[in-house]
Amino acid sequence: LFTNIKELLQVRETPTDKVSGAQMATLPTIKNAFLLIENDTIKAFGPMTDCPKIDGQTIDAAGKIVLPTWCDSHTHIVYAGNREQEFVDRINGLSYEEIANRGGGILNSAQKLHDATEEEIYEQSKKRLEEVMRLGTGAVEIKSGYGLSVEDEIKMLRVIGRLKADYPIAIKATFLGAHAFPAHYKQNQDGYIDLIVNEMIPAIAREQLAEYIDVFCETGYFSVAQTERILEAGHKHGLVAKIHVNQFTAIGGVAAGVKHGALSVDHLEIMTPQDIDILKNTTTMPVALPSCSYFLSIPYTPAREMIAAGLPLALATDFNPGSTPSGNMNFVVATACIKMKMTPEEAINAATINGAYAMGLSKTHGSITAGKKANFIVTQPITSFYQLPYAFGSNLIEQVWLDGKKWA
Ligand code: NIG
Ligand code: FE
Repeated sequence: LFTNIKELLQVRETPTDKVSGAQMATLPTIKNAFLLIENDTIKAFGPMTDCPKIDGQTIDAAGKIVLPTWCDSHTHIVYAGNREQEFVDRINGLSYEEIANRGGGILNSAQKLHDATEEEIYEQSKKRLEEVMRLGTGAVEIKSGYGLSVEDEIKMLRVIGRLKADYPIAIKATFLGAHAFPAHYKQNQDGYIDLIVNEMIPAIAREQLAEYIDVFCETGYFSVAQTERILEAGHKHGLVAKIHVNQFTAIGGVAAGVKHGALSVDHLEIMTPQDIDILKNTTTMPVALPSCSYFLSIPYTPAREMIAAGLPLALATDFNPGSTPSGNMNFVVATACIKMKMTPEEAINAATINGAYAMGLSKTHGSITAGKKANFIVTQPITSFYQLPYAFGSNLIEQVWLDGKKWA
């Protein structure tokens, strides 16, 4: 039992799976609240005046704010080595595209992953997972996509499976074989897509290594037609689409995602009015990745236009070695406020309930609701939740509770 909580955020009595448009401006909270958990579940919450008398452990949270853990619906935290040389190359004037065209980028990470053992990849990746958990993330989606061969994609997905088994954070696995064309398929793109469709997808579905399928739909990567072929094949094997679209160019990938029932369409740095229109009244969650925009110095997702059009929006890190070597959701929330002009209420909704939706976890995560997982952040004593994005770069988290146990 937590008592005297200064403000309890994202409290939802009635199950809510996501919030859209103008609803995002409201973050339901209770001031001077209690929160009762039992085992790994939220039992009850409310104002202190209704606080029950219990026998069990009681924790005084006076002056502190409690909110659900962050739901990071888009990451690539399983990888080998890093790409810090490319970081310096970009400082010296090369673009992300130029680096990729020289054989760097995703193919650089694929080579490193190929050269590493499953054990090495696991050891490197678990450090990143533990780091993001300390930073308040309680649910995370992790993609493959640095394998680019049947064996190496499966090697990555097995590492994700081991992390899922070993840690109390909720993990969803996504197959991203269509992340880039391996060098030896450059002149034979259909050959690589055949490999994805005929070998990778059936093997991954058979071993139940992933729930979602992703494609990097982008100029110079996978065309809309190629994306559709892969999503269709995934769908036949029960893999739900979640795609990378409109990072650098708008080529119609948003429409393809919606057409194939994508749970989310992610990146969206470059949005046309048609792209926004297509997302209206769909079950597809748009996901912005502001740390990627920050790190690559590319445009930010036009959150204000999208929210004004009535769309929902989720925020995620995109933690990966190339475009976003950071998994800090606190920074994501702050950057969404500072650079995308989202209000703190909107950004917290986007990083909790809408993030949970974008990885199919809103039944159990993303809000303080009786019956959901007891996953929450306890802040240091702070004046209000506006401090979270305002004091960007500071770590204001005092405790992280996952499945009813104090993790950090
Ligand atoms: O989401 N855009 C494609 N994929 C990743 C970056 C991959 C990489 O550079 O390693 C992303 O930004
Ligand atoms: Fe990504």
